[in-house]
Amino acid sequence: MPSLQVNGKQVNVDVEPDMPLLWVLRDELGLTGTKYGCGISACGACTVHVDGKPARACVVPISSVEGKSVTTIEGLSANGSHPVQKAWVQLQVPQCGYCQSGMIMSAAALLEQNRDPTDADIDAGMTNLCRCGTYHRVRAAIRAAASQA
Ligand code: FES
Ligand code: FES
Repeated sequence: MPSLQVNGKQVNVDVEPDMPLLWVLRDELGLTGTKYGCGISACGACTVHVDGKPARACVVPISSVEGKSVTTIEGLSANGSHPVQKAWVQLQVPQCGYCQSGMIMSAAALLEQNRDPTDADIDAGMTNLCRCGTYHRVRAAIRAAASQA
């Protein structure tokens, strides 16, 4: 039975070892903030952090995160106070919102690696897809979050 930390809590899940982390989060643990988009690691809607690094949960078998620490959008901050979340609200980034938890998790991981990213760094680091085309606001919000962090 795989055991891991999710948003700071130890959890044991009784699932097949090849079940993707995304299914465990959504269906077993009820953490539905992480979204299913493509299922083939192409869109980034399912982005979470595994030991602080961004990971696309749709292609991460649960057995590979045994003993690791997973953070989802629900655990990024206790009350929406992460600089990226604040910038997202300030600049009203989302349109339909479906891709946005993945965008926020990717942006938070990017800023952990690079505190002052250029637009080129942001474009290279943010490979998430948004059908609503919020890319300009995503970029602006990441720059705003960088200046607040
Ligand atoms: S659902 Fe995982 S990358 Fe698209
Ligand atoms: S805000 Fe709609 S898909 Fe990105």
